[in-house]
Amino acid sequence: MREKLKLIKKNAEEKIAAIGSLDEVNDLRVKTLGRKGEITQLLRGLKDLNAEERSEIGKIANEFKVHLEQMINQKTEEIKHCELDSRLAREKIDVTLPGLPPQRGGKHPLTQITEEIRDIFTGLGFSVAEGPEIERDYYNFEALNIPRDHPARDMQDSFYISEDLLLRTHTSPVQVRTMEKTAPQIPVKIIVPGKVYRRDDDATHSPMFQQVEGLVIDERITFAHLKGTLMLFAQKIFGEDVRVRYRPSFFPFTEPSAEMDISCVMCKGKGCRVCSHTGWLEILGAGMVNPRVLEFGGYDPEKVTGFAFGMGVERIAMLKYGINDLRLFFDNDKRFLNQF
Ligand code: DAH
Repeated sequence: MREKLKLIKKNAEEKIAAIGSLDEVNDLRVKTLGRKGEITQLLRGLKDLNAEERSEIGKIANEFKVHLEQMINQKTEEIKHCELDSRLAREKIDVTLPGLPPQRGGKHPLTQITEEIRDIFTGLGFSVAEGPEIERDYYNFEALNIPRDHPARDMQDSFYISEDLLLRTHTSPVQVRTMEKTAPQIPVKIIVPGKVYRRDDDATHSPMFQQVEGLVIDERITFAHLKGTLMLFAQKIFGEDVRVRYRPSFFPFTEPSAEMDISCVMCKGKGCRVCSHTGWLEILGAGMVNPRVLEFGGYDPEKVTGFAFGMGVERIAMLKYGINDLRLFFDNDKRFLNQF
């Protein structure tokens, strides 16, 4: 029995030395020292020994038990210590690390394009005018030579608030609003950025969109001034090598009227899907101010002439950045907006 006890002790000591977790320590404690443990089992055999041997073996067994108990306790402390150390190391916070920088907002791409357009024209001596988004029928249509029941009204299906009030369908009403304030002074050179509203909604039309209007009035203003100004504008926005062309068109408030195309920004005029294989992209409407509009505004068409133009900001941004869905501008998805 003495030998067996020694063996148990030796085995237990080896195991204790090799153990790495608290669970294993507890296991070992139960198996060796527990009520059904190895030593207790062995000591059942004491009753077969004589009194002398019994007391001697009992003494040894007790010593072993105390000894192993101590070793196990010590190991437990060691492991607890180790675990605490590694947890502290794991959970260490470096308070000297720099913090997360706050995310900075940026200007919306449409704001950027509007500012770019504005800067080009203010650089040419234009000033910026504004008008109301809720507009009177008179300024939105009548004073622009679009009388009631004129078929040209159908081009711009509108949101009416009352018989006389509507959400403006274009920025052109600010032409006459401005003339009323400036007449008969010359020159007039304004651009008008602003929101406009139409009953349209698809991949290239939104019920709310933005335009920039332009108006120049002075003595002896000709179509050449219009062409020179808009050519320069196109080059500044789309690059020096852009080409432009004018197609005859119709607007009640200009005579003659034209639409200006630029050579396709994608294929440089060779023909592709974006330009429907024509090589050209329409970017704005323009013309010489109709004499009747000058009269509505208080100017004498015998003394002054003018030119005007109007462009869609979203359309210019889409062409410039190669964006195929207008609605991306209004979705407020940061993955899209962060690219600008
Ligand atoms: N107001 C027109 C539209 O929204 C655009 C336009 C065309 C404006 C010709 C002008 C112009 O000033 O001369 O469709």
